[in-house]
Amino acid sequence: MSQSSIIFEDLDPPKRLLMGPGPVDVYPSVLEALSKPMLGQFDPQFTEYMNQVMVLFRQVFRTENEWTLLIDGTSRAAIEACLVSMIEPGDRVLVPRFGRFGFLLSEISKRCGAEVITLDAEWGTVFEPDQIADALKSHAPKYVTMVHGDTSTTMAQPLEEIGPLCREAGTILHIDACATLGGNPLEVDDWQLDVVTAGLQKCMSGPPGSAPTTFNDRVAEIVSNRKHIEAGIRPDGFENADGPCISSNYFDLSMLMDYWSPSRLNHHTEATSMLYAARECARVILSEGLEQVFKRHRSVNAALRAGLEAMELKLFGEAKYRMANVTGVVIPDGVDGEAVRRDMLNDFGIEIGTSFGPLHGKIWRIGSMGHVCRQEHVLRCLDTLTTVLQRNGASTPSHVGVDTAENCFGADK
Ligand SMILES: Cc1ncc(COP(=O)(O)O)c(C=O)c1O
Repeated sequence: MSQSSIIFEDLDPPKRLLMGPGPVDVYPSVLEALSKPMLGQFDPQFTEYMNQVMVLFRQVFRTENEWTLLIDGTSRAAIEACLVSMIEPGDRVLVPRFGRFGFLLSEISKRCGAEVITLDAEWGTVFEPDQIADALKSHAPKYVTMVHGDTSTTMAQPLEEIGPLCREAGTILHIDACATLGGNPLEVDDWQLDVVTAGLQKCMSGPPGSAPTTFNDRVAEIVSNRKHIEAGIRPDGFENADGPCISSNYFDLSMLMDYWSPSRLNHHTEATSMLYAARECARVILSEGLEQVFKRHRSVNAALRAGLEAMELKLFGEAKYRMANVTGVVIPDGVDGEAVRRDMLNDFGIEIGTSFGPLHGKIWRIGSMGHVCRQEHVLRCLDTLTTVLQRNGASTPSHVGVDTAENCFGADK
């Protein structure tokens, strides 16, 4: 058959249990939301849904920020939108990095023309507030951009003290909460975080492709001072702001603010189905209750870790700073980490994660988040990992992983 006439079979992806660092299986009601009918982008019902999304995500982010909206694209789309809309060429940006995604933040800042100052912590650790305070003093950056939970190392940076330090220094703080939102406590207003970006495909348990974002009036002012509206939609009498035009059209927060405000000035076509999905993700976790969702992530992952340690596996990184939703596991000597991942996926339908850079081939990353964050999934994963490790030459003891985790769940009831 010639290539030009192939239409392939009906779409029927294999059933998997996604227990890596994300994406993860989505809540069933989110899948349903994705199949709802299209609406026109200015249909009053659709703009009402946009408003509802703002109300829902203010609760998820725990903020009063008016500007709480979705950026279309995966999490890095929101990072780019915020950084490109704020940073002017030559602005000094401090990027404290403790994993791969810190490197992403410095890379994007550089592309925005920033003078980037980096601060590096060993992978598996995080920063002490004093280190950030010293760097703020020595470099007086206009912006700080850093990751909350870096899935590459599975460490979470405490932010309670960092927000106030930046506020005191007159620095705007951007936080990448892609991997923590909806599973780890995150207090945007109380911790004085100026701009926070996230995604759906981790603890929010939605599909990748929509990036919840919130920013305060300090950020709105910076962005508005650069507001240039594209010619074909510019309202009569509008004068472009004095600041330099934001160099991306798609990611121009000043135009996105108009699109998400009552003026509804046209920009892109909002990704209808992704907005439905984001709305449903927020509704699901708010219905369960944020505190309960955090507790579920904490206790289910604690049971997973107890099971892994009972299997004589070593966990990666400083225990005190572990993210609630994903755990780094040191691949035992003599075990082919990729063979284990392959067997788990091909023979048992369970995906666990590999890692990047210096940790590639050294750790697996096992996540339990969102819809996947439940007892039955943890027990299935531990049982399967035991079987597969034994098959791959490890001396992992039978049953203890599952038994230990099960006891933790019992103790939690
Ligand atoms: C902490 C963190 N930041 C950013 C990203 C990039 O997100 P995306 O792939 O949705 O663009 C990821 C993805 O894994 C992440 O874990």
